[in-house]
Amino acid sequence: MAEFNHILKYIHEFSSDPTSSLREIERQTYLKTFAPQMISGKIQGRFLSMLSHMIQPRRVLEIGTFTGYGSICLAEGLAEGGVVYTIEANRELENTIQQNIEMARFADRIKSLIGQGEELIPKLDEQFDLVFIDAGKKDYGLFYDLVFDKVVSGGFILADNVLWAGKVLQPNSDRETRSIHDFNNKINKDVRVENVIIPLIDGMMICRKK
Ligand SMILES: C[S@@+](CC[C@H](N)C(=O)[O-])C[C@H]1O[C@@H](n2cnc3c(N)ncnc32)[C@H](O)[C@@H]1O
Repeated sequence: MAEFNHILKYIHEFSSDPTSSLREIERQTYLKTFAPQMISGKIQGRFLSMLSHMIQPRRVLEIGTFTGYGSICLAEGLAEGGVVYTIEANRELENTIQQNIEMARFADRIKSLIGQGEELIPKLDEQFDLVFIDAGKKDYGLFYDLVFDKVVSGGFILADNVLWAGKVLQPNSDRETRSIHDFNNKINKDVRVENVIIPLIDGMMICRKK
């Protein structure tokens, strides 16, 4: 079988290019942040955008903004008048997030909130069509519980990195891996949702609330 990196390169080449703003945000993220690999990047970003175009959500929630790349991709497919709320715990990213949202000309569609997801989610008086969990891995289960009643019936919850570079096959290897495996197990047992893990980059859990 061809090496996985070559397959990834092929996928990269034969997928649509993101906008010039997104390309610039990714470039700046690699130049200016300490852990740039946290960014969704081209393939995952195109997937988020495609999903958003398919669902045409009115309300989206992202937990873990980082530099705003995923928020912008999710905003691309919003219904008329739709809004993406995105929560970031790291205050030092606040200006960068705002600048990036403005560069993408999405200031009217993305509301950036700075603070801990676990504190801000209960204060959001909205019903979401799509939620993207992409923050603190050990808190995935908590985020899921906090958002669940705020997701419409037929709505979707996505969670990134659920394969954790394959470490979930040895769930007891460390605390984060254990948490992610426990989260996957929790979702799989939750009769209120249908779920599938797709091997997108580091694994994406997709749940549909019944
Ligand atoms: C993987 S990055 C997010 C990437 C982004 N969603 C994207 O698509 O490019 C995770 C982010 O979550 C933030 N974070 C970690 N714990 C958090 C929490 N409890 N609440 C909100 N944000 C958190 C981190 O500071 C980091 O910027």
